[in-house]
Amino acid sequence: MLRENEPVTSPTARSSALFDRALAVTPGGVNSPVRAFNAVGGTPRFMESAAGAWLRDVDGNEYVDLICSWGPMLVGHAHPEVQAAVAQAVSRGTSYGTPTVPEVELAEEIVARTPVDKVRFVSSGTEATMSAIRLARGFTSRDVIVKFAGCYHGHVDSLLASAGSGLATFAVPGTPGVPASSTDLTVVLPYNDTAAVEAAFAEYGDRIACLITEAAPGNMGVVPPAPGFNRFLSTICAANGALFVSDEVMTGFRASRLGQWGLDGALEGWVPDLMTFGKVMGGGFPAAAFGGRADVMSQLSPEGPVYQAGTLSGNPIATTAGLATLRLATDEVYDHITAAGETIKAAAAAALTAAGVPHVIQASGTMFSVFFTDTAVTDFAGAQRTDTAAYRAFFHTMLDHGVYLPPSAFEAWFLSSAHDDRAVQTVLDALPPAARAAARPDSVALKGTR
Ligand SMILES: Cc1ncc(COP(=O)(O)O)c(C=O)c1O
Repeated sequence: MLRENEPVTSPTARSSALFDRALAVTPGGVNSPVRAFNAVGGTPRFMESAAGAWLRDVDGNEYVDLICSWGPMLVGHAHPEVQAAVAQAVSRGTSYGTPTVPEVELAEEIVARTPVDKVRFVSSGTEATMSAIRLARGFTSRDVIVKFAGCYHGHVDSLLASAGSGLATFAVPGTPGVPASSTDLTVVLPYNDTAAVEAAFAEYGDRIACLITEAAPGNMGVVPPAPGFNRFLSTICAANGALFVSDEVMTGFRASRLGQWGLDGALEGWVPDLMTFGKVMGGGFPAAAFGGRADVMSQLSPEGPVYQAGTLSGNPIATTAGLATLRLATDEVYDHITAAGETIKAAAAAALTAAGVPHVIQASGTMFSVFFTDTAVTDFAGAQRTDTAAYRAFFHTMLDHGVYLPPSAFEAWFLSSAHDDRAVQTVLDALPPAARAAARPDSVALKGTR
């Protein structure tokens, strides 16, 4: 094992040594599975610091960051204004277990920027969706929930479900540890499939408490809703007395200034009954929220009977970081991220075309991803046709050229307002060799492979 100050023998020696230590004390060596590089092979890089668009690992390698902490870092890492606000907040203490000023201010900011009337803070997106579902069930006095295959809403038992044997039948657990009784009130449908949704409502309409969907799925790669699909969901829920829960944990304040809702609901004139938020609104700290119609939210404890609580909910440091981030998230920020994204998408398409690699690039607002397949992806079955061996070779070549992509073929790429010309140029320079590697996946040897 490498000791401090020992000479480094490979560009990933310190990450490898840390991974060995981590494996000894943590399952898989990581605290969230995708970080382990299992989908792409090789040794995960242990990051030591980040600034603007750049990550720096413990071996001193630098990478342009295209995951942005899986979404939150909209204004870049270590933004001076966010850091100053956090430092000031920390100097006043870190948690009181009482109401505080920043949580009121952040709630006001979210209510001003979205269609929700009221909002309740929690500490993770998982808690937000779990609580929204409990509230929907409490409000409607119904028990069935509907979700889509390929949409991830956190590791909530009832949402870790795979489709049952027929379309409109109850689901089976998607993982050991979830009892059948947790998913046997969940119906899982193919995304973008209006006929499947109609069939489910025809079968269970008077039992459905809510339908939950990612506002624009990003957890199977970016699969935008077909035009009018979210409006259709909102309408069929209303017609059946069910609540429409739009999960904007990933897209909120990210896909656009108003999230995915700014790209459809705001233009088409409909509003979800409940929404969930996370990531950007926490500014890199553990904060998330659910919110919605005043009459639904008033059912929450202590105003109403539906119980929900949290020791660190609305924590003053996390809400201060989120507030500082949202206040920085102006139209210029989204314009900058959009422009940088267009440049990278065009260069990726050109490099992959030149290398003869089948690909489809899909976007929803500022979020996008590259599928290594030749047909547009509209649902989970389509996403699964992506060539994961090609992605693995592409990923590692990008990494070797100083670009940190998501270590899985089924994730969105994220940019920030700190992705300046130098960062974007680094990505553009890496794309042609990565595309050539994707054309010959077997030619790529992985650094630090164990
Ligand atoms: C759409 C969506 N909902 C919920 C979650 C769960 O959030 P968390 O990881 O904070 O529990 C995620 C996480 O990626 C997400 O993308």
